[in-house]
This record gives sequence, C-alpha cells and structure tokens, in this order.
Amino acid sequence: MNEALKIVNLRKDYPLPHGKLCVFKDVNFSLKRNEIAAIMGVSGVGKTTFLNLCGALDRPTKGKILIEGEDINAKDNRQKAEIRNKKIGFIFQFYHLLPEFNAQENVSFPLLISGYSSHEAKKKALDMLKEVSLEDKAFIRVSQLSGGEQQRVAIARSLINEPALLLADEPTGNMDWQTGKKILKLIRELHDRKKLSSIIVTHNEKVARFCDRVYLMDGGDLKLFNHL
Ligand SMILES: Nc1ncnc2c1ncn2[C@@H]1O[C@H](COP(=O)(O)OP(=O)(O)OP(=O)(O)O)[C@@H](O)[C@H]1O
Ligand SMILES: [Mg+2]
Repeated sequence: MNEALKIVNLRKDYPLPHGKLCVFKDVNFSLKRNEIAAIMGVSGVGKTTFLNLCGALDRPTKGKILIEGEDINAKDNRQKAEIRNKKIGFIFQFYHLLPEFNAQENVSFPLLISGYSSHEAKKKALDMLKEVSLEDKAFIRVSQLSGGEQQRVAIARSLINEPALLLADEPTGNMDWQTGKKILKLIRELHDRKKLSSIIVTHNEKVARFCDRVYLMDGGDLKLFNHL
C-alpha cells in the first residue's frame, strides 16, 4: 500500500444558530508515502478544518478518511486517540502548548502518554529541541517564549513520537525564512530517514515550492497546481 492518507468524498458542515455552514462537500485527496503536500488557499476557505479531519480531531459530515489504509472514523475513541498519539504529528496553527510548563516538558508529553519513563522522555525531548535550535530555552516556561520559539517547541513536540503522518498548519508562519528553511529541511530529512509523509498548510509560496505537490483549496475543492 502506497498511500499514507486517502480522503474520499469528504464533506464538512458546521452547525450554525440558524442552519449550517458547508465548508466543503466533496473533497478527494491522496498523499503518497514519503510525499510532502502543500495546501494553500485564502483565509476561511477550510484548510484547518481539513487538517483536523485528516487527523481525527473532528468528524466529517460525510466521506472517508483512510490513514495507511485504516478507516479512522470506524474506530472508537480510544483507538482514535492511540492512532493520534502513535501515528500522527500535529503542528497547530496556534501551537496549543501548555503555557505553565517548560519547553522540555511540553515536548516530552507525547512520549509519557505512549509509555516512556520520565527520564527517557526528557532526554529525548532535549535532543529534539536541539534539532529545532532551542536547547538553550528548554527549561523556560513556554508562555515566556516568542511566537516563533513557541512554534518550534510545537514542531519538536509533533515530531518526538516519530509519526508516520505530519499535519502542519502554518508551521513556519511566525519565523524568519532562514529559521523556516531549517525547519523544512528537518522535515525533509525525517522524510528520508523515517518514511514520514506530510501535509503543510501555508500562505507562503517559498514554503509551497519546497513541497513535492501543491494544492489550492478553493470553492470547496482541492485542486492540484501544476506550476507555482
Ligand atoms: N467550530 C466551528 N464552528 C463553526 N464554523 C467554523 C468552525 N471552525 C471553523 N469554522 C468556519 O469554517 C470556515 C473554514 O475555517 P478554517 O479555520 O478551516 O479556515 P482556514 O482556511 O484554516 O483559514 P485561515 O487561513 O484563516 O487559518 C470559516 O468560515 C470558519 O468561520
Ligand atoms: Mg487555519
């Protein structure tokens, strides 16, 4: 099986006080193993909604989501949580870190959840913080870090469990291009070393050019760009 992720006839409606909002109603998409796909599109078009569905953080109104061939919405909540912890790395648009904990603790949480000892988890977290050039900030509470630094903590956390699928919402949105490039190189290196597959939502054409394929979300559809 050559697909990390397959999306079939996906529809998402949000309930509104009067009626509903249909964000998209028939999206089809496939991510090959090892591929990095970029998704672009104007604000409010549904990119974050799409990523949340791909990562089983929300349920589709209709359609199927297959992660490495497995239909995630056919699983119960416990199984879904396990798939999220073991197979999926999320980089959220607004980081979702735990502000009262330091960078090392934030990065080590997914490992603790999957059964590592505290000592081992903290050691690995420190190594991962080195990869995003943040080892000198490891023991600082994340509420005291800059936006770009918090984003790098979130990136380290998303990669710590060596996921099969990385879902990244504007992962380099808050950093200068030099730092952003370093993060993208790290993601590419993990693709080569660990057979990672990724979707990167971005507004930045430089980031999109770095990816293997670029899609545009527009009018409820995902269209492949031939040239950027
Ligand atoms: N929980 C929700 N309930 C109702 N409507 C929602 C909810 N989340 C998002 N929406 C709406 O769905 C649409 C798509 O939102 P989404 O966050 O997916 O956009 P986006 O493409 O990620 O935008 P941005 O580039 O600004 O991050 C928007 O119109 C938004 O207002
Ligand atoms: Mg968004």
